[in-house]
Amino acid sequence: MSDDFTWRDHIVTLDERGLNTLQQAATIAVGDLQRPTGPRSDASASTLHDLIFAFEVCPEEGVGLERSLADLGSAVWGNAVVPSDAACVAHLHPPTLVASVVTELSIAAVNQSMDSWDQAPAATEVELHLVEWLARLITMPSSATGIMTSGGTASNVLGLTLARSWAALGLGVDVLKSGLPPESASWRILCSDQAHFSVQRGAAQLGLGRDAVVAVATTPTGVMDIEALDVALDELEKSDLRAMAIVATAGTTDLGAIDPLEAIGQRARRHNAWFHVDAAVAGAFLLSESLRPRLTGLADADSVTIDFHKLWWQPFNASALIVRDHEHFDLLRVKSNYLDRGDELEGMVNLVGRSLDTSRRFDAAKVFASLRAIGRRELATMLEHLVSLAHFAGERLSANGRFDVLTPPTSVMCVFTARGFSAGDLRAVQQNLLARGEMVLGRTEIKGVSALKFTFMNPLTTTSDVERLIALIDDEFDRITPEP
Ligand SMILES: Cc1ncc(COP(=O)(O)O)c(C=O)c1O
Repeated sequence: MSDDFTWRDHIVTLDERGLNTLQQAATIAVGDLQRPTGPRSDASASTLHDLIFAFEVCPEEGVGLERSLADLGSAVWGNAVVPSDAACVAHLHPPTLVASVVTELSIAAVNQSMDSWDQAPAATEVELHLVEWLARLITMPSSATGIMTSGGTASNVLGLTLARSWAALGLGVDVLKSGLPPESASWRILCSDQAHFSVQRGAAQLGLGRDAVVAVATTPTGVMDIEALDVALDELEKSDLRAMAIVATAGTTDLGAIDPLEAIGQRARRHNAWFHVDAAVAGAFLLSESLRPRLTGLADADSVTIDFHKLWWQPFNASALIVRDHEHFDLLRVKSNYLDRGDELEGMVNLVGRSLDTSRRFDAAKVFASLRAIGRRELATMLEHLVSLAHFAGERLSANGRFDVLTPPTSVMCVFTARGFSAGDLRAVQQNLLARGEMVLGRTEIKGVSALKFTFMNPLTTTSDVERLIALIDDEFDRITPEP
């Protein structure tokens, strides 16, 4: 290799010189991450716009690594939201594990591409090992396997894509080749009225249309009402419509509610519908002996979404779609002359055949490295701590006298309203705390009721932090003038 190239040190090489260069750069980059406490700076949207847009994206002559990283540090990381701060409680937005973050560096440095075995030989085995371990944890049969995707939305869309191909196959139609058969006009996807919007997005993308989604009513605790599901299924039958798929949610976005999976799975079998479970949120409960029983029935699913970048504390992106029968992936396969010819040596699996992506990150590595480093027991304890924080928040909010908790927390969220205050008032409280950089608090609307929301994702948060957050919110309500 020539040393004459002026660009020699821009390229990651896995030799001593290359790795020394990388290590020094990593030290500088990590140094630039340090920032004062708080969940975010108080910089306004327009200040941030001006600050960021003042940078020349690709100057004629580069500014050098140190300056570039320092600028990122002060302008971007210095104004970032900090998921490891106890007051960052709005979303399913976790702090990340040290083992995963350093593995991100290796993932990028070695840059395997998960589409074909010849670009990712050992990496392909790691991904398969990880998803098949997860399938066994769910207690699916040995035919089960999976694929990593970019997130819960992508996993749900992929699950529904398989459901659609499977429904068409039942009519003798290869939907990927011939498009939707006329019968597809009668296909419906049932999910609860609290299911994630990615179900609708999937229906839209698959050409079925959002109107093909039938929202089944939920009980006051936010789980799918089985009687309502039975009524919906009866009505479909009477109208000559077909339940193509039933989607259960294990851990809804707002309340963390887990639908009755066993009962829903039985209905899916009875009606010859694909059974998909969106366990993006509560899939992590599989790790905990005390929380796992809540997922009874998950093993009956045809496909399951699990997001590692939620309650498994992985950096984005890291999700998996687990599929009960590996043959279902054949419904997706598109032969490619340059990538997946089908004439490779025995055992060389090209994962492109299972994915909607072609080039794909080796996200499995960071999950694998961190799960092995920490172990199930400690991960379970961290998760149980978060569930107990949500319970604690529910108790303290109820004891305060000003707040009403919508339903007792069962997961890591706690959703609440304030007596005598309107939706506009809740908005003012949440936005004021955000603008001043004091708290990134959640705000949502459930069945027409506007509410505030804590989502506890940080295992370092303590009960005193929760008390402090409640006091901050309480003070903010004292400060605002309620809408007439
Ligand atoms: C239940 C559920 N499913 C799916 C998703 C989508 O996940 P992602 O943001 O990774 O696409 C979310 C996001 O919050 C969710 O709460």
